[in-house]
Amino acid sequence: MASSLTHILAQDLDDQLCVTAQPEEDEQQEQSSSPFSDTASPSGYLNGEARVNRAWAHWTKLGRPKLIVAPMVDNSELPFRMLCRKYCADAAYTPMLHSRIFTENDKYRSQEFTTCKEDRPLFVQFCANDPNTLLEAARRVEPFCDYIDINLGERCPQRIAKRGNYGAFLMDNLPLVKALVEKLATNLNVPVSCKIRIFPKLEDTIAYAKMLEEAGCLLLAVHGRTRDEKDGKKIRADWKVIKTVKNALRIPVLANGNIRHMEDVQQCLEETGADGVLSAETLLENPALFAGFRTAEWVAHGEKSIEDGNLDQADLLVEYLKLCERYPVPWGIIRSHVHKMLGDWFRIHPHLRESLNAQSRLTFEFLYNIVDQLRELGVKKPLYLKKADKNLAGAADGSD
Ligand SMILES: Cc1cc2nc3c(=O)[nH]c(=O)nc-3n(C[C@H](O)[C@H](O)[C@H](O)COP(=O)(O)O)c2cc1C
Repeated sequence: MASSLTHILAQDLDDQLCVTAQPEEDEQQEQSSSPFSDTASPSGYLNGEARVNRAWAHWTKLGRPKLIVAPMVDNSELPFRMLCRKYCADAAYTPMLHSRIFTENDKYRSQEFTTCKEDRPLFVQFCANDPNTLLEAARRVEPFCDYIDINLGERCPQRIAKRGNYGAFLMDNLPLVKALVEKLATNLNVPVSCKIRIFPKLEDTIAYAKMLEEAGCLLLAVHGRTRDEKDGKKIRADWKVIKTVKNALRIPVLANGNIRHMEDVQQCLEETGADGVLSAETLLENPALFAGFRTAEWVAHGEKSIEDGNLDQADLLVEYLKLCERYPVPWGIIRSHVHKMLGDWFRIHPHLRESLNAQSRLTFEFLYNIVDQLRELGVKKPLYLKKADKNLAGAADGSD
């Protein structure tokens, strides 16, 4: 399977694209020398204790990542992941991939899933509503990743899933969810993880999480909002529910929601007891969040222990564009990141946003030129650093 993916991708994309990724040697060794190899591989279902042991052994082998790039359709693609990794992200999810289209369509597969040797630990996320199709899709990517993740909580964009029964819709069909997880857990070498939203009732969320653990999920990310709580900026995620889930389960649990700077990370880990955090929206504006940088929005007026970090979003955008030159992605994705990273800058000089929007075909030259123009116009929007945040990022780097 791996070689067929490599072959397909290599056919379609330019040499520079880092898609000839091979399964890492130590990964292969781990599989053959793993204490679980006789029970973890396609041979079948692990009992409770062995499953928990495997969950923690795998998590520990990955260095117990704490700072994680959340899955984001059209936004957590390879160059963005690599940028976040440079700024202290310990691990990253791919954007959600549609399992059926992934198995059927070469172009979709080669365009939507790209990776490289340095792009690890990597969680590849799928949406699915058929266990066999999900397994087929997962098998194609398992040599290149550290978890196969199932999206059980987020609504899928229309573009990706025209009809329902994916993502959050699965919360109405728990037997199907169980079947999806069990199918992967009993047939893959790579562990299965799940990402959920919470139910309005705490007991339903706990029962759901326990069902997933029993079905063979070895890592659970909990987005602390219900599926009807759509506006993440206005509605706070419920960390108390995440804490209760963490206490009810024995596998590693990740917290998602309300992570805007490193103090949030610290507070979230303390309050929930979670093993790591995911960030999405804020990371899009500030991919250096995990290295302790924060936008002016999160600096209190007159705050003393804060300094200019000598880095800004335009610098980050230039780094991102260079990564895109190295690891090509569709222009629509690049355009979206330009708007997210330079949104505040365009509010000062809207004519540059209009000029960007007027371009039906983008070029790197045009985009670098936008940054140059902003510099010439003297826009100054530094990212800030707090001494404590720098220490937090350092402390969070690696395992505990
Ligand atoms: C642009 C965008 C795309 C997203 N795509 C996905 C996705 O593909 N899969 C998924 O499980 N969640 C997706 N999400 C949800 C995030 O992973 C995350 O759960 C949510 O935004 C809450 O985290 P935050 O408060 O840090 O933004 C997306 C969020 C955003 C902003």
